[in-house]
Amino acid sequence: MSYNLLKGKKGIIFGALDEKSIAWKTALRCHEEGAQIVLTNAPVALRMGEINKLAEAIQAPVIGADVTNMDDLKNLFEAAMQHFGGGIDFILHSVGMSLNVRKGKHYTDIDYAFNQKTLDISSMSLHRVLRTAWDLDALNEWGSVVTLTYIAAQRIFPDYNEMADAKALLESVTRSFGYHYGNRKNVRVNSISQSPTATTAGSGVKGFDGFIKYAEKMSPMGNASGEDCANYCVSMFSDLTRMVTMQNLFHDGGFSFTGVTQAVIEAMEK
Ligand SMILES: NC(=O)c1ccc[n+]([C@@H]2O[C@H](COP(=O)([O-])OP(=O)(O)OC[C@H]3O[C@@H](n4cnc5c(N)ncnc54)[C@H](O)[C@@H]3O)[C@@H](O)[C@H]2O)c1
Repeated sequence: MSYNLLKGKKGIIFGALDEKSIAWKTALRCHEEGAQIVLTNAPVALRMGEINKLAEAIQAPVIGADVTNMDDLKNLFEAAMQHFGGGIDFILHSVGMSLNVRKGKHYTDIDYAFNQKTLDISSMSLHRVLRTAWDLDALNEWGSVVTLTYIAAQRIFPDYNEMADAKALLESVTRSFGYHYGNRKNVRVNSISQSPTATTAGSGVKGFDGFIKYAEKMSPMGNASGEDCANYCVSMFSDLTRMVTMQNLFHDGGFSFTGVTQAVIEAMEK
């Protein structure tokens, strides 16, 4: 169902890899709500070609950009502004990657060169995106920026490995840049802390199946789906949430504030 919540708004969506991606689902929902979109992903992801299906469905151009490359980001923002004929109202930063997880390195044995790359892609890239928008004055007054994070930034989930540290840094950048952008132009910057969701990035976490089932049992409402997350992003891009900024917003069916559930007690008693 569409409420026209984003009618006339223009946004850049980072990170739609395939139809399981949270960014993919969010792009579809934003389009349904009346937004115009520019899609972007790393050149290597674009070569997979899946994103073209989404681009066709929502009539969006695709502009490649590696989030760790400032020239790519500048080119992306300039091309998006040219396409829209003006400024940008919202950005979804839905990007994450851990080289140490990919290479099967244990947290106690991480490679620090990989770790630097992980932090650049997964955390400082939000700073790079905001800095590029800031320098080009690309975001409109009352714009909204959302990034996606996970509760491993606050609590230990051992197999989440170095991504826990990356998410903690990402949430800090959200607050710090959120302060400056709020002050300058009433632009809000928030992170949404999403339930485990079966996507390419999600499934990279060791023991993901057990992890997702446990979270399901530990959440009074069960896990929030990718579609639910897309709806939440729409609300954060709409004019109904203008004064929400610098927050880490848990979107997890109640997981973050639950000590134990009846379902977990019953599983332990078996
Ligand atoms: N899936 C989950 O369980 C879950 C839970 C909480 C938060 N998140 C976060 O949601 C976000 C989106 O992940 P997803 O689950 O939709 O998985 P996904 O694999 O579909 O998306 C990750 C995206 O990051 C992109 N990316 C990686 N390196 C890049 C680079 N250098 N430049 C540009 N883009 C790059 C990938 O191409 C991909 O599109 C991530 O930040 C992830 O950590 C996921």
